[in-house]
Amino acid sequence: MGLKVGVLGVGPVGDRLVRLLNERKFPVDGDLKLMATHEREEVLGDKLYHVHKIDENSFKGLDLVFFAGKEGAKGASTEWGRKAVKSGCIVIDNGGDFRMYPNYPLVIPEVNMDVVTKDTRYICNPNCSTIQMVVALAPLHKVARLRRIVVSTYQSVSGHGEAAIEELKKESAQILAGETAEQNPSIFPNQIAFNCIPHIDKFLPSGYTKEEMKMINETRKIFDEPNLLINPTTVRVPVFYGHSESINAEFELPMERQDAIEILSDPQRSPGVVCIDGINPDPSAINNRCDPNECQFPTTADLVKEEYKDAVLVGRIRNDTTIKNALNLWCVSDNLRKGAATNAVQIAEELLKRGLL
Ligand SMILES: NC(=O)c1ccc[n+]([C@@H]2O[C@H](COP(=O)([O-])OP(=O)(O)OC[C@H]3O[C@@H](n4cnc5c(N)ncnc54)[C@H](OP(=O)(O)O)[C@@H]3O)[C@@H](O)[C@H]2O)c1
Repeated sequence: MGLKVGVLGVGPVGDRLVRLLNERKFPVDGDLKLMATHEREEVLGDKLYHVHKIDENSFKGLDLVFFAGKEGAKGASTEWGRKAVKSGCIVIDNGGDFRMYPNYPLVIPEVNMDVVTKDTRYICNPNCSTIQMVVALAPLHKVARLRRIVVSTYQSVSGHGEAAIEELKKESAQILAGETAEQNPSIFPNQIAFNCIPHIDKFLPSGYTKEEMKMINETRKIFDEPNLLINPTTVRVPVFYGHSESINAEFELPMERQDAIEILSDPQRSPGVVCIDGINPDPSAINNRCDPNECQFPTTADLVKEEYKDAVLVGRIRNDTTIKNALNLWCVSDNLRKGAATNAVQIAEELLKRGLL
């Protein structure tokens, strides 16, 4: 017998949730129930679905609901999250509204699934940029204990939803046609085509953005390390799908490049991580570049490959030559899959495995 499953929100994250539930053959009893602000028919993945208008009775009879709506006071989680739990559902929420509430577990299954108990009814998925950084660093943290992280992100426009994807397409076409880009400042504060914008989410009085504070606070909560030093700069770049991060990590104990490569290349010790580092094993790459030192490294373009699409890819692992016990690394992942939908579906799978659902 399967479960009665709903998905609230049918933007890019809702679309990936539907694809993943089908791809991974999550045991759904009957049809998935899709919900949004208004009723319509919509293609998600490769199938046409009926989308229901959300109302007070929407959650009746459902066992599990994935939330993928807008954040904020009038957003889906604030409006409907507690109502879904009252109706008897377990909620797995992609939004940020409850992530820092003490009784709301913030979960990456590879890292801290044990914070979920039989009484848990509402589980939060971390922010996309936090998920990939924590999956990459957790195996190293286990061995050498993190002291300080300095991270700069290169985040794709799909992280801001469907409207942002359309904005990059429109501006790029206009500029390539020799026209001036017509910007919609309610999406990005500057032109995004052929540009990088060091501004994601709202600015706070400190000068940091909310996205940067999410990386600090969520990472501390997931690792249960309230004093971990984290220094982020988050940047929107003109890439459609996939986020990249340049991470400098300092540890309490020795951690050398070779140790990190060994740990991150071992799927038992580093679940969800694929290490793509060192001299390129493909002789044609070396020949093409005429360089015997030609290295391999991951980029967001690699995320279309079947074996990488749900993984966190790491590479460019180097000793930091300026301080002791520190490394630089490059980290890439699909913000809509591992950064959102894959993580949420993996949580649900783990709940099933543990008899919690
Ligand atoms: N995009 C990412 O990389 C990413 C990564 C991690 C987490 N997240 C989070 O995941 C969530 C979804 O992201 P997205 O990019 O798919 O967003 P999106 O493109 O803005 O889509 C939001 C969807 O939610 C529905 N919705 C919004 N407010 C609602 C409400 N009050 N009641 C019912 N439905 C509502 C919308 O309905 P209509 O279609 O009817 O307007 C739409 O289908 C957000 O909270 C986001 O912060 C996103």
